[in-house]
Amino acid sequence: TADNFKWLKQSKEKIGTTVTLSGWVRTIRTTNAGVSFLSLFDGSDLSGIQAVVPDTLANYEQVIDQVSGCAVCVTGELVASQGKGQQVEVQACHVDIIGEVEDPQHYPIQPKRHSMEFLRSVAHLRPRTNVFAAVTRIRHAVSMAIHQHMSNAGFYWIHTPIITGSDCEGAGDLFRVSTLDALKPPLNTSGEVDFTQDFFGKETFLAVSGQLNVEAFAQSMRHVYTFGPTFRAENSNTSRHLAEFWMVEPEMAFTDLSGCADCAETLLKGICQSLLTHHSEDLAFFDQFVEKGVLARVTNLASQGFERLTYSQAITILEQSGQAFEYPVKWGIDLQSEHERFLVESHFKRPAVVTDYPKDIKSFYMRLNDDEKTVAAMDVLAPGIGEIIGGSQREERLDVLTKRMLESGLNPDDYGWYLDLRRYGSTPHSGFGLGLERLVSYVTGVSNVRDVIAFPRTPGHAPY
Ligand code: 4AD
Ligand code: MG
Repeated sequence: TADNFKWLKQSKEKIGTTVTLSGWVRTIRTTNAGVSFLSLFDGSDLSGIQAVVPDTLANYEQVIDQVSGCAVCVTGELVASQGKGQQVEVQACHVDIIGEVEDPQHYPIQPKRHSMEFLRSVAHLRPRTNVFAAVTRIRHAVSMAIHQHMSNAGFYWIHTPIITGSDCEGAGDLFRVSTLDALKPPLNTSGEVDFTQDFFGKETFLAVSGQLNVEAFAQSMRHVYTFGPTFRAENSNTSRHLAEFWMVEPEMAFTDLSGCADCAETLLKGICQSLLTHHSEDLAFFDQFVEKGVLARVTNLASQGFERLTYSQAITILEQSGQAFEYPVKWGIDLQSEHERFLVESHFKRPAVVTDYPKDIKSFYMRLNDDEKTVAAMDVLAPGIGEIIGGSQREERLDVLTKRMLESGLNPDDYGWYLDLRRYGSTPHSGFGLGLERLVSYVTGVSNVRDVIAFPRTPGHAPY
């Protein structure tokens, strides 16, 4: 069993028995009434457990000399508590100091509110804070809710590769994979790196998406998804971009764009419902301390229908809005975050699915519409963040797909295996990608995606 604090609090039969709490000190409050109070945490829930320490303990002076962050082991009786906001506490009869905090003045995590920017600079210590532990629990809960929701809906989880030979999004934002030998890379006669001599015998990259690979399974197992880390060398220093982020990518055979939008909407709703049922304490914390209104946002997302409109309709709304945008609006532009946010925050005031974008701003694999100017793409936009999901119906016609590849500057010979999926039993199929960090940021109100991933990787920021 996980005999963590959360579990102990739920185990009513433990009341009146002797328990052992191993965890870390959040705060120590001393009184002159013969007892002190240690507020303890172990990350399993927000509030932790309080230990009441009598001054009759042999090491009492040593205990109250400790500071926030110290690791302890407290043994005593678990009792129902009179205290406000806690169901139980422990009447300590024994306190072991397990790991002291060296040089307390210089310990970066003091028992006060730190800025997110500061906490980022001590990424290895920030899991000790209330806020980052709560983010981490929600991230876990969202991930588990995704797996549960997809599995209940009959989707199989496919582990797609991280090292790949293709550029799924065709945007060129790739990290190249090479062996250490590549510091002295094999060169050809023109002095260029000769990838045929490198480890894989061809140039390889970290995956920007698992989509192309997961399509192979959709074309045989109907409903599948991939969920894992993806990598993009985008030089975007924004609160929405990471060089390494996690994405869930469902892919469905015999499904058109509208079925794809339905799947995205039910998934987002299912995740929010699960959070509201199982993680209300953490959500209430974010609502109180991080962003007022985030609880209402999650509640709304769980129940409200999403607006659906085409890109051309979105452009008309933006043009007629009278709003002075930094980036001018006209048909053909890629929607910028200011446009996306205007649509869902000021205009619709709820999430929206925008479909049928101009083909020139979207990827080669998206299905060409009959107008030959737009593709069957969709983006799900959410208030407070903008694009949270990107997806499309895929081009299932071999001839059209080949032509689109050439137009996008890709060599169809490099994608023979992908074209095979259209040669043998091709079906209309669709899928999308949901960025995990954008979603976690959205449901917690933590506004920067760097603060919802354990160790963020961003341009110019040396990882550890
Ligand atoms: O719109 P994107 O680029 O779509 C794809 O990668 C498709 N292959 C997905 C598919 O159809 N299977 O990315 C999907 C989502 C975005 O909507 C966003 O939430 C997130 O991934 N995302 C990022 N999140 C953090 N940092 C970045 N650099 C991101 N780029 C995309
Ligand atoms: Mg996108």
